[in-house]
Amino acid sequence: MKMIRALSTHGGNVREHAEIRGISIESLLDFSANINPLGIPESLKLAICQQLHLAERYPDSEYKALRKTLAEYHQCLDRHIVVGNGATELIFAVTEAIKPKKAMLLIPGFAEYRRALQKQQCEIVDYQLSEDNFFQPDRALIKHISADLDCLFICSPNNPTGQRIDHDLLNEIVDICRQRQIYLIIDEAFIDFAGERYSLISKITANPYLIILRSMTKFFAIPGLRLGYLLNTDDNLLHRLRLEQQPWTINSFAELAGRVVLYDYGYIDATHRWLRQEQAYLFQKLSQFSTLIVYPPAANYIFFKCQITDFDLQDALLEHHILIRSCGNYPGLNNNYYRVAIKKRSDNKALLIALHRIMMNHSLERK
Ligand SMILES: Cc1ncc(COP(=O)(O)O)c(C=O)c1O
Repeated sequence: MKMIRALSTHGGNVREHAEIRGISIESLLDFSANINPLGIPESLKLAICQQLHLAERYPDSEYKALRKTLAEYHQCLDRHIVVGNGATELIFAVTEAIKPKKAMLLIPGFAEYRRALQKQQCEIVDYQLSEDNFFQPDRALIKHISADLDCLFICSPNNPTGQRIDHDLLNEIVDICRQRQIYLIIDEAFIDFAGERYSLISKITANPYLIILRSMTKFFAIPGLRLGYLLNTDDNLLHRLRLEQQPWTINSFAELAGRVVLYDYGYIDATHRWLRQEQAYLFQKLSQFSTLIVYPPAANYIFFKCQITDFDLQDALLEHHILIRSCGNYPGLNNNYYRVAIKKRSDNKALLIALHRIMMNHSLERK
């Protein structure tokens, strides 16, 4: 029987996969969305429960309190922050404000940059990251950053490869883009997992061409609330960005989340402790499969290549009620590539057990 394929472009579409297989959503273990398995912080749950009345009035359309909290946290000026309904809204707002004619994307990369650029009818130059170089950008990229580009998107750690771009190289790219007046949009949606010390937020001062994108979705496990923000110091661009946005784009509870969670140090520490353990555990265990090439992760997900030909590992794992992200629809990749979220130990073990069962038919594991 031919299996119906899911149509979604992103991970996390548990409903669609469950429907296709005729199973309940609850019985599917989701490794396809990279969300912190510690779940929504208790501090936020409590704050929302205590402040349900916030829904009874409009949020502040300028989000002054939220921007002040973010500015204090990042030690920058609140007027340099624009908040959005997830980083996704801001990706579209940025391209709308810049109206680039020519842009460069590193592939494989997050799909929404391309959709946002296409909406502007922008010419897109793809820079293929090399498998031989573990999909890491290297200095060869620099000579492709030509002055006729209007913008360049870089995601670090990159989705789906999980690689963090070398800090010195990234700084060099920042300088080059500034000299050549190219907007450099650095997507730091996963940087809080890698470590705030890798963020380039401190570099925004006096560099109007640097735009940093952040998402609260992954680290604080609130994909359903929708909250992201960007940082930039070009008053003119910031003004245009705000003009692009509809009023009250962030709901009251997302706004509340932004004011509460950044100071939940208990949750933040617990997340780093969990990640340190489970990242090493899952990477090491996956690397033992001789059929897989596993890329060392810098964030809360692991990217790998399955070397078995004509084999659909996503499909095979769905038989075990486990959903992983097939990366075949990323430009620059093919159906042999996959991404899994790092979850709690019991879930990670369930994934490994299912993989053992599947791989038993294909090869011996490495000792
Ligand atoms: C690299 C990257 N940037 C941005 C986003 C969008 O995040 P948000 O949920 O804040 O819109 C995602 C979501 O998957 C992502 O993977």
